[in-house]
Amino acid sequence: MGKLQFAAPCLMGLEGLCADELKRLDIQNVRAENGRVLFEGDFSALARANLCSRYAERIQILLGEFPAYSFEDLFQGVNRLPWEELIGKTDSFPVKGHCVSSKLSSVPDCQKIIKKAVAKRLGTKYGTSWLEETGSLHQIQFLIIKDRCSILLDTSGQGLHKRGYRANSAAAPIKETLAAAMAELSRVRPFSTVIDPFCGSGTILIESALKAMNIAPGLRRSFSAERWSAVPSSVWAAERERAMDSIDHSAEFQAFGYDIDPEAVNLTLENAKKAGVDGRIRAEVRDIRDFSADQERAAVICNPPYGERLLDMQQARELYKVMGERFTQKRGWSYSIISPDDSFEDTFGRPADKRRKLYNGMIKCQLYMYFRVNKEM
Ligand SMILES: C[S@@+](CC[C@H](N)C(=O)[O-])C[C@H]1O[C@@H](n2cnc3c(N)ncnc32)[C@H](O)[C@@H]1O
Repeated sequence: MGKLQFAAPCLMGLEGLCADELKRLDIQNVRAENGRVLFEGDFSALARANLCSRYAERIQILLGEFPAYSFEDLFQGVNRLPWEELIGKTDSFPVKGHCVSSKLSSVPDCQKIIKKAVAKRLGTKYGTSWLEETGSLHQIQFLIIKDRCSILLDTSGQGLHKRGYRANSAAAPIKETLAAAMAELSRVRPFSTVIDPFCGSGTILIESALKAMNIAPGLRRSFSAERWSAVPSSVWAAERERAMDSIDHSAEFQAFGYDIDPEAVNLTLENAKKAGVDGRIRAEVRDIRDFSADQERAAVICNPPYGERLLDMQQARELYKVMGERFTQKRGWSYSIISPDDSFEDTFGRPADKRRKLYNGMIKCQLYMYFRVNKEM
């Protein structure tokens, strides 16, 4: 199989991080767009991006793009693509997608046309009128925006934020891809100490540990394309080995999690174990009111509770005030707090040294970063 085009959708605001990371992984022709990153490569790039990307939500093969004003355009555009190079005679190929601001606006109708066009092509190539679809899953995804159709084939299966360590989660856990981005923006390094005083299920601490030790986030899970006959299993084995060899076992990284809820503390410890980083993470019950910056240096990274209802919002703001008092400016210390509350800095008591707009799902947030120390301190 020659060079393939890929798309890696990601959370809004993470496109740059996602693109830089793919370039660091030696992936070619990487371009960031709104909400996704495009790149090129072979099956090794496919496997590497799935295994190693901390910020991509999934990896898709971008099979083709063409104008589609009618069902005929759609049928012909899809039928022209070389499906037989990726989908075997018995494989299954369900179709899903979206239509936005286009003449073709009925998703079910487009699904049917695309299915028919792929089935026709495969039937002709394999010399059969009956495709049993009992084999490995090849999820086809389409996107028709302003009459331009993109046809994609998903290679990941479950979203890449599902690393395999968080079967159990506390209420309101942060998405793993966003937690990884917070660790990157907070400059977590192999020698860092990270503290999350609202650790919940431990996502921020675990993602920080994976990053600090250069552990590929996908090492403990499998991917759709791992079951495709078109992708040699030797490719996956080589990429898994490459990722294993890249782990930095000498990293001095350590992390501490605190939470007022004993169940959350247990979850953090359980999840750290599942992620294979339990040797680096300690956790205990502690109220934020008892927090003190008593070590030499640390990066505090957290998503404190945020209430939707008025009463909860008041309680959340009380915590922001406590944080402002407890998160003292101190050499070697930095604080990164994600919040959707526009009045966060007022309540916290200091303007952030830096802010970064991020999206927690559909909720617009800011990562408020504090790292400057007063000259006289
Ligand atoms: C939004 S959740 C954090 C989720 C976490 N980042 C995760 O991925 O699972 C907020 C956490 O703050 C904890 N919490 C609430 N009030 C607290 C307090 N006063 N001190 C410490 N933790 C508190 C809650 O128990 C909850 O686990």
